[in-house]
Amino acid sequence: MYKIEAIVREEALEDVKDALIAADIRGITVSQVMGCGTQMGYTQLVRGNKVSMTMLPKIKFEIVVSDETWANRAVEAIRQAAYSGNPGDGKIFVLDVARAVRIRTGEEGREAIAPAQ
Ligand SMILES: Nc1ncnc2c1ncn2[C@@H]1O[C@H](COP(=O)(O)OP(=O)(O)OP(=O)(O)O)[C@@H](O)[C@H]1O
Ligand SMILES: [Mg+2]
Repeated sequence: MYKIEAIVREEALEDVKDALIAADIRGITVSQVMGCGTQMGYTQLVRGNKVSMTMLPKIKFEIVVSDETWANRAVEAIRQAAYSGNPGDGKIFVLDVARAVRIRTGEEGREAIAPAQ
């Protein structure tokens, strides 16, 4: 099992969500987060003063899938939907998942990830 963590622009939220659903991916967590990438945010003029906005609001998606094929599907869907070509488009991380449990049934592993019966 793999977990995909994707940090994307706020305005990409709907497009990324729609792309994941269109790719048949179910089971999605979304959070509002703050972060910075390699540019450390950006600097802005506020009433004549240079102010650095080091932490920018972003959206984090978390998705756990059963295998590498599904992980690749999720990564591609997110990348296409979140892409603008400008700095700050975001980043996608893929992690190994040791265990998953569906609370209602006690199912473990891939069964806990598959659509419920
Ligand atoms: N190495 C990292 N670890 C954790 N979070 C990161 C990392 N890199 C980026 N992020 C998160 O992703 C958000 C977007 O990053 P961003 O797209 O600016 O990355 P970047 O490496 O600077 O690429 P780009 O040059 O395209 O801007 C950041 O605000 C931060 O929340
Ligand atoms: Mg950046």
